[in-house]
Amino acid sequence: MDYADPKRKSGFVGKVFLAAALTALCIIMIKQSPSLSSPSPFSIHEPGVTHVLVTGGAGYIGSHATLRLLKESYRVTIVDNLSRGNLGAVKVLQNLFPDPRRLQFIYADLGDAKSVNKIFSENKFDAVMHFAAVAYVGESTQDPLK
Ligand SMILES: NC(=O)c1ccc[n+]([C@@H]2O[C@H](COP(=O)([O-])OP(=O)(O)OC[C@H]3O[C@@H](n4cnc5c(N)ncnc54)[C@H](O)[C@@H]3O)[C@@H](O)[C@H]2O)c1
Repeated sequence: MDYADPKRKSGFVGKVFLAAALTALCIIMIKQSPSLSSPSPFSIHEPGVTHVLVTGGAGYIGSHATLRLLKESYRVTIVDNLSRGNLGAVKVLQNLFPDPRRLQFIYADLGDAKSVNKIFSENKFDAVMHFAAVAYVGESTQDPLK
């Protein structure tokens, strides 16, 4: 390649300049993104907002409790391992309440202490409603310690 050719040289410099400008623009846009500059609404105590952790919120009772809480203007975090519950129920709730500050779903097993500690360190809850269970009538007699 002959870099001594002034036409080619100016074309190359132009491309480098354009790439640098685009990179700078991307950095500015990323820095101004609200999701990066402000903390998650679930991680702070917001005055006037009560944040409830609903365990087993993908299940029958938990999803109905969540619906009621959201209708009553609570902020809700659902934790469920989907062993029994239905992600479809969570999606219905997310469609009914699309504001991302109202409802978050965390896929986790409450039997995993590390996950539970992480959830409590990253979120600020005002109350917990515990519905996660392995509680069918038959299995509660056949395998009561499960
Ligand atoms: N369904 C009823 O009519 C009824 C009536 C009275 C009391 N209850 C009680 O309410 C509670 C919930 O019952 P349900 O009918 O909603 O049950 P469900 O099976 O529909 O829901 C339980 C949820 O807990 C989740 N889960 C189970 N183990 C988990 C774990 N280790 N980590 C995270 N999530 C986990 C499941 O995936 C499921 O979504 C139970 O304690 C039950 O005894 C239910």
